[in-house]
Amino acid sequence: MSLFSIDPEKCQQDAICVKACPTNVIRMGTPDEMPEPTPDFEEYCLACGHCVAVCPTEAFSLNWLSPEKCLPVRKEISLTREQAEQFLRSRRSIRNFKDKPVERHKLEKLLEIACFAPSAKNSQPWHWTVIEDPAGVRRLAGMVIDWMRSVIKQYPEQAEQRGFIRVVSAWEAGEERICRGAPHVIVVHGDKDYGFGAEDGALALSYFELFAPSLGLGSCWGGYFYSAVNAYPPLFQALDLPSDHRAFGAVMVGYAKLKYQRLPLRNEPRVNWK
Ligand SMILES: Cc1cc2nc3c(=O)[nH]c(=O)nc-3n(C[C@H](O)[C@H](O)[C@H](O)COP(=O)(O)O)c2cc1C
Repeated sequence: MSLFSIDPEKCQQDAICVKACPTNVIRMGTPDEMPEPTPDFEEYCLACGHCVAVCPTEAFSLNWLSPEKCLPVRKEISLTREQAEQFLRSRRSIRNFKDKPVERHKLEKLLEIACFAPSAKNSQPWHWTVIEDPAGVRRLAGMVIDWMRSVIKQYPEQAEQRGFIRVVSAWEAGEERICRGAPHVIVVHGDKDYGFGAEDGALALSYFELFAPSLGLGSCWGGYFYSAVNAYPPLFQALDLPSDHRAFGAVMVGYAKLKYQRLPLRNEPRVNWK
């Protein structure tokens, strides 16, 4: 079976696909000067699709990805510098949610976009567990509190440092600071031995968070939540995660109650120019 095909009518023999390939598994063939796979193509191709995406004449098709399957980059809707800055700087962690569930199709769209994040070697290691039932979210938040109580008992100093005592006191006073009353929690997880899980998970959740406002939604990292997933077996089991997985991260998501009017400041970059 061919690994990719070149339309000889369209190929300009410009070797752009060769230059764009991150693993050098495309070369110009002899004697026809058409791109061809190297002998180790199958072993090293990352399936990133750069070869198809970069070809200016739509001459390059992978056996699983034709140019027609890829949306064109539409320059007319690219963000300006000002728009891009506002888009990135206006993302906020949302901790006040309306009592309104998010439609399944919106959650699906968020996950679809999250999977366009970069990942090491394009491994796309993400598995997703969506807690769709708001009552389930509340129940699981209670399990995080159980875990915190056990840490407070066993390691009071560590619990104090990690803010658990305040969070548990708030819970006892009727305030839920684990999932912040969000209707849904999304956990991203994967192979527990995979070295780039934390990075790839965080990147996917960043895409998720950045896209959420365009669907009218707000989100917030659930640091307490996924720490508990990895540290507290009853919660891990309640989520039915595969036993060889670990949580890479979690976000709460829902309709935001509050609207933010300004872009707060951050620390200046701490840079050492060499
Ligand atoms: C890894 C990570 C874990 C976090 N965990 C929580 C959390 O458990 N609860 C929470 O309310 N916010 C959590 N946050 C949100 C941060 O507090 C928030 O990003 C920070 O205060 C800056 O605010 P902003 O996101 O609105 O810019 C977490 C953020 C990250 C990146």
